[in-house]
Amino acid sequence: MSHDPVSESLNSPPLPRLYTEFAKYWTLVSAPEDYAQEAEHWINAVRSRLGPGRHRALELGVGGGNNMSHMTREFEFVAADASADMIEQARSLNPEVELHVGDMRTIRLGKTFDAVLIHDAISYMLTEDDLRAVFATARAHLRSGGVLVTAPDWYRETFRDSDTSASTRRINDVELTMFEYSYDTDPTDTTYDTIMWLLIRKAGGSPQVERDHHRLGLFPLATWEGLMVEAGFGFGKDRYDVHEDGREAYLLVGVNR
Ligand SMILES: C[S@@+](CC[C@H](N)C(=O)[O-])C[C@H]1O[C@@H](n2cnc3c(N)ncnc32)[C@H](O)[C@@H]1O
Repeated sequence: MSHDPVSESLNSPPLPRLYTEFAKYWTLVSAPEDYAQEAEHWINAVRSRLGPGRHRALELGVGGGNNMSHMTREFEFVAADASADMIEQARSLNPEVELHVGDMRTIRLGKTFDAVLIHDAISYMLTEDDLRAVFATARAHLRSGGVLVTAPDWYRETFRDSDTSASTRRINDVELTMFEYSYDTDPTDTTYDTIMWLLIRKAGGSPQVERDHHRLGLFPLATWEGLMVEAGFGFGKDRYDVHEDGREAYLLVGVNR
């Protein structure tokens, strides 16, 4: 029997229900059209380092491909996600993109790219070893001088305990309301938690109420920088003022040395 010491040392909690049994509701949770402004920041982060051209990009943790859908005119994409159900969502929005099911810490496609992009999915990395594994994946898929761009939702310095949000969207006769409550029970560790309540209401009937739990990573900015440099990247950060709550946010950019 063969052993993979990297995957054996990584903890893999089950994917949240949002990305498996409720993935079919993804466009009700998160509207592709809401990502146009964010995508501009990602395009600028790549173009300001690599210059013009239809660069080859790999997105890891692509989810439903909402952010990517605003960049496929600019870059030539391949993408992957740990959830086969989310890959189906990404496929229906981005039929021209080559898609794979795979964990961002261990996937190896045997190809290199000009850019590796990891949007908010990076927030599911819970430990420094997870981050080391993701940065090794990025390096394995980048040409020399290529760029890694990523954007955790929160940093240890910016996290607000507790944070709440709610949204409602309707498509045809299905309406989905989502309440999110994020909290941190241990400020000395590298995680926080989000509880989500999904209210799914069909054809004006009574809502089906479902609960979901997400564990997410929370690291100081200095940890991101230190681990990217340790992995062999030159580190930079671009302001990323896209959150409605005005939080301080950055695109973290690593140039593969
Ligand atoms: C918030 S969604 C991403 C949405 C995406 N930014 C978009 O624009 O549609 C987070 C995604 O991270 C994926 N994910 C979580 N852990 C992962 C891992 N270890 N490797 C790859 N993908 C992962 C989930 O399956 C989910 O699809």
